[in-house]
Amino acid sequence: MIKHLPVMLKESIDSLNIKKNGIYIDATYGCGGHTKLILSKLGNKGRIYAIDCDIKTILINKILDKRIIYINEKFSNLINILDTQVLGKIDGILFDLGFSSFQLNDPKRGFSFMFDGPLDMRFDQNHGITATEWIKQVSKNKLAYVLKKYGEEKFANKIACNIKKYIIKNKLDKTSHLNKLIFSITYKLKKNKKIFKHPATRTFQAIRIFINKELEELKKALFNSLNILKKGGIISVISFHSLEDRIVKRFMKTHTTNNDKYHTRIPLTEKEINILSKKDYKLKIINRIFPSSKEIYNNPRSRSAILRVGKKI
Ligand SMILES: C[S@@+](CC[C@H](N)C(=O)[O-])C[C@H]1O[C@@H](n2cnc3c(N)ncnc32)[C@H](O)[C@@H]1O
Repeated sequence: MIKHLPVMLKESIDSLNIKKNGIYIDATYGCGGHTKLILSKLGNKGRIYAIDCDIKTILINKILDKRIIYINEKFSNLINILDTQVLGKIDGILFDLGFSSFQLNDPKRGFSFMFDGPLDMRFDQNHGITATEWIKQVSKNKLAYVLKKYGEEKFANKIACNIKKYIIKNKLDKTSHLNKLIFSITYKLKKNKKIFKHPATRTFQAIRIFINKELEELKKALFNSLNILKKGGIISVISFHSLEDRIVKRFMKTHTTNNDKYHTRIPLTEKEINILSKKDYKLKIINRIFPSSKEIYNNPRSRSAILRVGKKI
């Protein structure tokens, strides 16, 4: 099994400024890489809430330590899943978004076009619908919209049209089916036949983001984290593509007080604005960090990462 290398490990944990008896949340436990480093800095009375919606990843990568409280849930649900007595008392929360190498390299999960397996793509395999089921029921127009919006795929219409035609007579329940189909469509369309990025990359990304509701999850979780952090608490987010980073950047700038020119409130939803205006939480933007060239060399998965850090004030 390929080991998952935690991205920006030192930078992200340093950013949390761990206190010996603090209470921390690793909202994306994965293989426990970040949690392990937090643990090494915590004293006996410190606590970590380790959240992951993928039960398999928790069970296989579990670290046995009484200071960790495991929660198999979505991070958007933060407020409801934490013990009520710790709400407003959290010293730091970390999000390391997306999937781990543990998930990517497991053919049974369907995240990668490099391996053949069921076209599933769910982080939480006990809930929601698989990519195959979704492709069967979605309209051609909606499919094209998703490919364009979440994959920035320039052949979105052609791919969507061909997928919907293909499934009338053929099965599309394996990663290899989708991979081959996209390859044949885009190969014909591309004038320059040189391949820089695998042609299925954008379609796989788009479908994964959509069926896991990744952007909605992130927006809700960021918003909720304002309510659970204590004053002075830190929020650190590692994102891997521009759609995620845009949300994090916008969130930080929306709630910041340390830069007036960004002090424009960009609405999430009506309800959220109402809560916000009553509670009037503010953030101070602390940092924006990119991986070092050494890390990118050792772990190419880190090349698109951005770590943004804010402090509740
Ligand atoms: C990049 S991995 C985290 C790796 C981890 N930091 C480590 O060092 O091992 C992201 C993890 O977040 C989980 N995840 C993704 N979306 C989630 C959500 N909405 N709620 C809870 N967990 C989620 C995935 O299942 C995956 O295990």
